Amino acid sequence: MTATANLAEEILDLKRDRRAIILAHHYQEAEIQELADFVGDSLELARKAKEAEGDVIAFCGVWFMAETAKMLNPSRVVIVPDQAASCSLVEGCPPEPVREYRRRNPDHVIVSYINTSIEVKAESDILCTSRNAVKVVNSIPADRTVLFLPDRNLGNYVQKETGRENLKIWQGSCIVHNTFPLRRLLEAKALYPEAVVVAHPECPIDVLRHSDFIGSTSAIIDYCAAHPTGDYIVMTESGVQFSLERVAPAARFHYVANENCNCSECPFMRLNTLEKLRNSLRTLEPRVELPADLMSRALVPLERMLAVN
Ligand code: 13P
Ligand code: SF4
Repeated sequence: MTATANLAEEILDLKRDRRAIILAHHYQEAEIQELADFVGDSLELARKAKEAEGDVIAFCGVWFMAETAKMLNPSRVVIVPDQAASCSLVEGCPPEPVREYRRRNPDHVIVSYINTSIEVKAESDILCTSRNAVKVVNSIPADRTVLFLPDRNLGNYVQKETGRENLKIWQGSCIVHNTFPLRRLLEAKALYPEAVVVAHPECPIDVLRHSDFIGSTSAIIDYCAAHPTGDYIVMTESGVQFSLERVAPAARFHYVANENCNCSECPFMRLNTLEKLRNSLRTLEPRVELPADLMSRALVPLERMLAVN
């Protein structure tokens, strides 16, 4: 038996003993996705976490997503294979300037992308994910000024889709999607002129302008499943390949790389490995622990978002 197969067997045994469910984001390594009970985008994972039974949620994704799982199902033990699995959007939006904005603009509506810390969520009026951001902003009365944070590309996309002028946008970005260069996309389009371009809304606006379909990770997968042939140029994290090959085995997928690392992988998501997952199921660490008062404040905008859906 190979080392990977041994590890996988150990994980499945521990999962049964711990009464655990494994939730994985689409950006995880294929071998983690293979073992997961459910693979999804950030909104789907939040919904799954809310209804998860058993004692433990092993969350294979990034820390803010695991915090969301804990908020929605606080009696479960929530573990993440690597505690350092953060997100550049979370790091680029510390809570203090958001509190200051709130103090100065008490009448503005703060819409926070789910890619924020629990402290920022607690300062927010409503949350959104890439899947429902347009719907969430459209649910806010047109005469209210909105601060959308922290992703400027998603914010610009939402502004364009909603036509809303009273929308202020925080200037954060994703270190993966924001570095997909238009130049490389145009080169790929020249190579595959018939290809359909599918893009995550965290990509820069010039990349989105040249895209045929824009959507969350799972929305991209669903779109390709509905049109399962031909060439696609994929403007998102390459972990989606696992699901894309499953839903559209006859299609050909081409990835446009980030110029800094020549890959399209999120360095935070990829910190999680099978070995670390096995260790965290053994020790039930690193574990998400959240102060009760912070959790109850952050839960209000989270539940508001789920109600919009
Ligand atoms: P999704 O909402 O599509 O899962 O996106 C989360 C994310 O972090 C994208 O980089
Ligand atoms: Fe954050 Fe970007 Fe990684 Fe998504 S891909 S978790 S937005 S750094």
